[in-house]
This record gives sequence, C-alpha cells and structure tokens, in this order.
Amino acid sequence: MQQVKAVVALAKGEPVQLTTINVPDPGPGEAVVKVQACGVCHTDLHYREGGINDDFPFLLGHEAAGVVESVGPDVTDVAPGDFVVLNWRAVCGSCRACNRGEPQYCFATHNATQKMTLEDGTELSPALGIGAFAEKTLVASGQCTKVDPAARAAAVGLLGCGVMAGLGAAINTGNVTRGSTVAVIGCGGVGAAAIAGAALAGAARIIAVDIDERKLENARKLGATHTVNSKDVDAVEAIRGLTPPADDTGHEGGADVVIDAVGRPETWKQAFYARDLAGTVVLVGVPTPEMKVPDIPLIDVFGRGGSLKSSWYGDCLPSRDFPMLVDLYQQGRLDLDAFVTEEIGIGDVEAAFDKMHGGDVLRSVVVL
Ligand SMILES: NC(=O)c1ccc[n+]([C@@H]2O[C@H](COP(=O)([O-])OP(=O)(O)OC[C@H]3O[C@@H](n4cnc5c(N)ncnc54)[C@H](O)[C@@H]3O)[C@@H](O)[C@H]2O)c1
Ligand SMILES: [Zn+2]
Ligand SMILES: [Zn+2]
Repeated sequence: MQQVKAVVALAKGEPVQLTTINVPDPGPGEAVVKVQACGVCHTDLHYREGGINDDFPFLLGHEAAGVVESVGPDVTDVAPGDFVVLNWRAVCGSCRACNRGEPQYCFATHNATQKMTLEDGTELSPALGIGAFAEKTLVASGQCTKVDPAARAAAVGLLGCGVMAGLGAAINTGNVTRGSTVAVIGCGGVGAAAIAGAALAGAARIIAVDIDERKLENARKLGATHTVNSKDVDAVEAIRGLTPPADDTGHEGGADVVIDAVGRPETWKQAFYARDLAGTVVLVGVPTPEMKVPDIPLIDVFGRGGSLKSSWYGDCLPSRDFPMLVDLYQQGRLDLDAFVTEEIGIGDVEAAFDKMHGGDVLRSVVVL
C-alpha cells in the first residue's frame, strides 16, 4: 500500500478536496498507474452533483494517461514502464456481447477488485472505475491501453473519455461517412470531438450548434462547415435550412445524423426533428435521472423512420481505437492538442469546474 495525493468529492454538491488516499499494491489482474495527465470532464461534475449515483465519496478523474508502475502477479498484457491511456471499457471476453463479436457492448467490464480508500479506511468510488485525479491509481490491467510513448500525455489522455465519446458518437454509433450531412448540438469537449470525427470520416457538411459563440469559433477550427447559435435562432429550422431535401417531395430536409452532445430533453427534441427522414439521432450527452423523453407524437417517431441511438463511450473498443487515434494524432490528422485549453495543477479541479460552467474551456487538463 502507498499514500498519494488525490481529488475527492466527499458529499453531494460540495467543493472537491485535495486529500491523501491509500492505494493498495496491485493484486491479480490489477495495475498501479502513475498518472501523468487527466482531463476534467463534465461527467466528473455530474458525479460531484450526485447526478450519477449516491456512492460518495468519489475519487474523481477518468480521462487519463500515465505510466504503469507495477502489476499484479498474473498480469501479462501490460508491464511496468508501459505508457498507457486508461479506459473504462476493459472487456470481459466471455459475456453474451463479447461472445457474439461485439465486445464494445460488453456487459461485464473489469475494474480493480481492491478498493482505494481515504486515510481512515473509508472506501472510495472511483469515477467510471478509474479515479485519476491522483498521483497514482489502481485499475484493472485491461483498463490500461498501450499507445505510442512519444505522444503528449495531456492530449492523448483525453481519448480516455470525452474525446473518444465524441469521435465515436460520430464514427461508430452514427456511422458518419464520406458525404454525410451531420449536425452536432453542444460543442464542448464531447461535441467538438464529434465534429472532428465527422471531419475525419469525410462528412460533406458539418453544422455546429451551441449557445456560446466561443464554442462555435472553436468548432470551425475542428472542421465545422457551418455554425448555428441556438440562443438567437431556432436550431431545427437552421439545420433544415442548411440541409435542404435532395428531392422535390416537399418534406423539410435535415441532416443525415444529428448528435446531441448536451443531453437534455429540449436538445434531444431538436435532434429528433432536425434529422432528415430515415436519419439517425445519437444521444451522447448524459441526462440527469429526473429528465424525461420529450413529448413527441408517436406518429412522428414512426413516420420519420430512421434510428434513435445512444452512444456510451462512442461505442469504442479501446484496444482497437486508442492506438489508431494516437497514430492519427502523431501524423497531424487529428488535432487532439486543440482540446487542451489549459494545463492545471491537481489542486485546481474545483476552479476548472467553474471555468467549465462559464464555458471558458474545452478541457482543463491536470498535469502531474
Ligand atoms: N456518452 C458518453 O460516453 C459520454 C462521455 C463523456 C461525457 N459525456 C457527456 O457529454 C456531455 C457533454 O460533455 P462535455 O464535457 O462536452 O461538456 P461541456 O460542458 O464542455 O460542453 C457542453 C456544451 O453544451 C453547450 N450547451 C449547453 N446547453 C445547450 C443548449 N441548450 N443548446 C446548445 N448547446 C448547449 C454548452 O455551451 C457547452 O459548449 C455531458 O453530459 C457529459 O456528461 C458522455
Ligand atoms: Zn464481455
Ligand atoms: Zn468523461
């Protein structure tokens, strides 16, 4: 066991605290990782606000890269010294999803078996089974995905959650491809990554929608061809206006794929009506437990056809997707640096939440 500094949310809605935690030595199937960088994701804030569940105290942080320090006795997939991006989808290999060849939908993903604790022995709940606003963290070895050690930790660590979720929402879940028309509602870290993913996949038209002009400016840099400030104009009408129907049958038009990267009933409803007939809605923003499906006539669900999907973690398979995306980054084809607005210290997470609330940042990244 060793003691390290870490950021913990002790109680619902209260500011997070930098404190000392106990990290057990790795047992079977586990690894201890020396964290080098960890992004501040909106999901960390959801945890702090009790929006995910009530299992306080939480050890926050889950978009991280670092170096494996030690591994349990039976671990062969990673070794001390490996540079890794941490993932929250260590697939089991034997559940029904894994058996049918769709491990990205694994029902039984692995986390560390032992618990990290506060100094007094209180067990911590690591955010998304990771907990990486910490000098060191204990994870399942399968949560460590080896990538090119020459890559910048602050940038590639973001693949561990938000950026992967956005890229994958477009490419994996939405099946955006060459020539697609795409709209993305909400252009924070996740939505901006969906825009970058749509650009990478060759989408013909990429419409960024946000209520914050700074996010729209940034979206343009990442590949948006058009921007819509939905504080000023109706998002559905604006998207339809930019994606007119290809025929003269008189329907309204809309994008082939609309991604809701906010996760609220009103933005999901916009996504629903802003997609073309037989188009796809992808919900990647995370709603809170009290939110309900908006009031939409069932005949509209039937009559518009297409598919209404949710995207957990961009339907990614870390072992397949992380090394490939790091290669694209190293080749200059995927600008992960554009997502790192600032590098901060481990004591600055609460201030980073304020900046996120104020819309000042895409990602603040804790660098250790
Ligand atoms: N599905 C997943 O696997 C996954 C993974 C990571 C994060 N998320 C979720 O994705 C969401 C976005 O995360 P983020 O880190 O990008 O957050 P963020 O706070 O950086 O970005 C949210 C963006 O939405 C914009 N916005 C807010 N209300 C809006 C509205 N009504 N219309 C248009 N735009 C609006 C904000 O201006 C901001 O730019 C969160 O709910 C987060 O929990 C999901
Ligand atoms: Zn499985
Ligand atoms: Zn996240």
